[in-house]
Amino acid sequence: MTDLQQELARVLLSEEEIQTRIKEMAAQIATDYAGVERIYMVGILKGAFIFMADLARYLRTNHVVDFIAVSSYGRKGVESGEVRLLMDLREPITDEHVLIVEDIVDSGKTIQYLNETFSGRQPASLKTVAFVQKEREHIPVSVDYLGFTIPDVWVVGYGLDYAERFRTLPYVAELKKEVYTK
Ligand code: PRP
Repeated sequence: MTDLQQELARVLLSEEEIQTRIKEMAAQIATDYAGVERIYMVGILKGAFIFMADLARYLRTNHVVDFIAVSSYGRKGVESGEVRLLMDLREPITDEHVLIVEDIVDSGKTIQYLNETFSGRQPASLKTVAFVQKEREHIPVSVDYLGFTIPDVWVVGYGLDYAERFRTLPYVAELKKEVYTK
């Protein structure tokens, strides 16, 4: 079995940094949603499953969770990717205070697609929270709560993968170039 760490260039966000920041984000969200009956958290599979789990557990506001799965063709490297809904929500979100929970904003296409899709379903409100956003050119999208800005490199861990690997690392690391260029 390969030692995962040998394939990593450096740690970008430590486990402690991540947990501290997510607690702060949960506190901010709780303040902003004070008086709201419940938050309807929508996690975007697969990447957001770990961020969603931590954020939801720190959140002291009444909330429910649901998930959707999307995929996009030709996004990595090619900017013409189309986002496609693979698995939809189980229930309508009419009159719900929807909070989209994303792991990463890269080109911005997924967030844009989700904003468009969900705003057409008459939610009471619609906001987005993303764990990280890459420092790169992306289509103008609104992210209401952002955990961290990270360099435009291949990152893994805390939900983010390379070929489905590394998702469950408790920290975020940069992948060595030789791993994805070989
Ligand atoms: C990743 C990530 C976001 C999306 C962001 O999903 O989870 O949903 O890319 O990229 P964008 O801003 O360029 O649209 P991916 O397609 O890798 O699927 P996964 O979450 O199942 O790993």
